Amino acid sequence: MPSSLQELIQKLHEIFKEDRVNVEEVKELMESYRSNPQDWKQFAIFDAHRYTRNLVDEGNGKFNLIILCWGEGHGSSIHDHSDSHCFMKMLQGELKETLFDWPKGEDSQMKERSHSNLKENSVAYINDSIGLHRVENASHTEGSISLHLYSPPFQTCQVFDQRTSHKSVAQMTFWSKYGERTPLTTASKENN
Ligand SMILES: [Fe+2]
Repeated sequence: MPSSLQELIQKLHEIFKEDRVNVEEVKELMESYRSNPQDWKQFAIFDAHRYTRNLVDEGNGKFNLIILCWGEGHGSSIHDHSDSHCFMKMLQGELKETLFDWPKGEDSQMKERSHSNLKENSVAYINDSIGLHRVENASHTEGSISLHLYSPPFQTCQVFDQRTSHKSVAQMTFWSKYGERTPLTTASKENN
């Protein structure tokens, strides 16, 4: 059982040396780490306006480990995972996950398949064959923090409009890397 986030990362590096990913093994390992804020608080950088993605480890190119910080009421779009595995472990607070089927036709509303509430230390798993999801912090009083492992790493994913099923491509950006706030690029300065 990993006694710290650092130890969890070491064990993940060992597991991902193999070419085949054993989903249950990764899930159980991530579940067995008991969240300790001392381990990860340096990476947990919030923004007032939307959730942040903070890079923790690049897994020797095999996976990305990212801490997401969700302020009160913050949520994601409905999105896919670019043919990668996605593991999501709760480090603090709770998140609501809503699953969706892939849209069948154009201009049709996307139906919610199921909901679940993810509690501290639990791990959820999704990939594109399972479906799409939206993740949100439904709390009005507390932030939530989650640890995401994506393998292989990806730079873009597709996001979907629930009412119309229309999709677009979204870039994965980092609010911080290794605990350091990511410098604003020229492009994002222009957008501000
Ligand atoms: Fe996701």
